[in-house]
Amino acid sequence: MTRVFVPRDSGALAVGAEPVARAIAREAQARNIPIEVVRTGSRGLYWLEPMIEVETGAGRIAYGPVSAADVTALFDANLLAGGAHAKRLGPPERISFLERQTRLTFARCGIIDPLSLEDYCAHVGYRGLARALALGSGGIVDTVTKSGLRGRGGAGFPTGIKWKTVSDTAAPQKYIVCNADEGDSGTFADRMVMEGDPFMLIEGMTIAALAVGATEGFIYIRSEYPHAIAAMEAAITIARRAGMLGKAIGGCPLAFDIEVRVGAGAYVCGEETSLLESLEGKRGVVRAKPPLPAHKGLFGKPTVINNVLSFAAIPFILAEGAQAYAEFGMGKSRGTMPVQLAGNIKHGGLFETAFGITLGELVDNIGGGTASGRPVKAVQVGGPLGAYFPRALFDTPFDYEAFAKRDGLIGHGGVVVFDDTVDMAKQARFAFEFCAHESCGKCTPCRIGATRGVETMQRIISGERRAENLAVVEDLCHTMKFGSLCALGGFTPYPVMSALTHFPDDFRAPPNRTSAGLQAAE
Ligand SMILES: Cc1cc2nc3c(=O)[nH]c(=O)nc-3n(C[C@H](O)[C@H](O)[C@H](O)COP(=O)(O)O)c2cc1C
Ligand code: SF4
Repeated sequence: MTRVFVPRDSGALAVGAEPVARAIAREAQARNIPIEVVRTGSRGLYWLEPMIEVETGAGRIAYGPVSAADVTALFDANLLAGGAHAKRLGPPERISFLERQTRLTFARCGIIDPLSLEDYCAHVGYRGLARALALGSGGIVDTVTKSGLRGRGGAGFPTGIKWKTVSDTAAPQKYIVCNADEGDSGTFADRMVMEGDPFMLIEGMTIAALAVGATEGFIYIRSEYPHAIAAMEAAITIARRAGMLGKAIGGCPLAFDIEVRVGAGAYVCGEETSLLESLEGKRGVVRAKPPLPAHKGLFGKPTVINNVLSFAAIPFILAEGAQAYAEFGMGKSRGTMPVQLAGNIKHGGLFETAFGITLGELVDNIGGGTASGRPVKAVQVGGPLGAYFPRALFDTPFDYEAFAKRDGLIGHGGVVVFDDTVDMAKQARFAFEFCAHESCGKCTPCRIGATRGVETMQRIISGERRAENLAVVEDLCHTMKFGSLCALGGFTPYPVMSALTHFPDDFRAPPNRTSAGLQAAE
């Protein structure tokens, strides 16, 4: 029976994947052709979604973007044999956006049925756990440390060191917490993992539990991800039934189970300590450190808290060995990064690549420049707390240290592109607005500073005593950077100061401002 693959990923659903799947089933039935419609995750080529694939004798053939209205014509064009049609893209792995990637973490995403444990195992799933069971706690920690994996949630902290700290801390109860709050602007890789390859996350967390001696895990997912929540809950139930979660995993003396918890929409609840507060049922307010969560985390117990992508990298590292992962990358940034191309970009999507690729390659060559066709003016990397980089910094390699050297950050790998109509003074004001809105209120530099920042930026935009107010903004940024308790207040100066440094024209009095959008508006 011919298999037709249609994504059930949120991004594909948003552009009509559901009616496409229904139309394909209906058309096949009307023509009396037995087919199986398999729902998958997304390959991450979002400008081509809904992208469907047909299994033929010569491998899979992709078509996209497909609408329900295309389906009859596609069948007439012999879709099921990979026939010619204007929407035919050919073998998916030959599409240049996919061909140029190094997919270690996303190797299965868009290919397998996310809720088929059989499919997962047939695609090397659970090989990492088998190796981990043979290695034992010390061997796992050693392998993760040697792989060079650094936390993909934002701070880039070495995962092996974090696990060793929890492993070395004696306690009757330890926890594994997965941070799936994914609040950064332009990011969606965590969601893609949960919707497209949920058993990989379960396997990664199970290996972490084995490494540190934890028996309970939680996945904290933002409420805006209903499909990811449903997919994770379904996958956990399937894994439990199959004996891959519970009291004796895979028939071994390993007990570990996972629960999904849903956040309530606060950006600061992605910060690890306020996430733990929220998990404990309290208001999401940042905790002072120390103690570190590795010593006293959830309910005061030693806790591994990692991002989805960090856990998702683990099965590959254990299955293939530390060296197989560490051989990719540059400097202290080892392995691959699932970069998320978003904003005003022609080819938006997920691009997993070894560290070291330049920002310019990502934006111009892979992303194809702006969707609007206008020149790129600025790129914000690393979410709302990341710096705005101008074209002059496009030679910056994707590497934690290289970005830090230029006062930027990689964060969770979100790349948001703006064309020349963007007003960077308004973006700087927005950075303060965002911080004021999302601040947990615990420390003064952030709680008060962000609001004063909005007011002062507004004065600059209105042309009121500009020089004086610019000095106030710089002073505020200094106070927030060095006086804030967490990175929400501490990093808000990065988008503000980078906008000021790299785009000074946008902060001048209105007649001298050069942004295309401003000229058009004035
Ligand atoms: C304001 C703020 C928001 C954050 N949001 C997230 C988030 O959505 N997801 C995430 O994994 N880490 C987020 N972090 C980073 C976490 O505090 C923490 O470093 C991370 O979960 C650790 O996992 P990792 O080592 O695997 O990156 C945020 C940090 C701050 C300061
Ligand atoms: S910097 Fe802001 S978010 Fe962080 S602890 Fe202080 S008030 Fe809360």
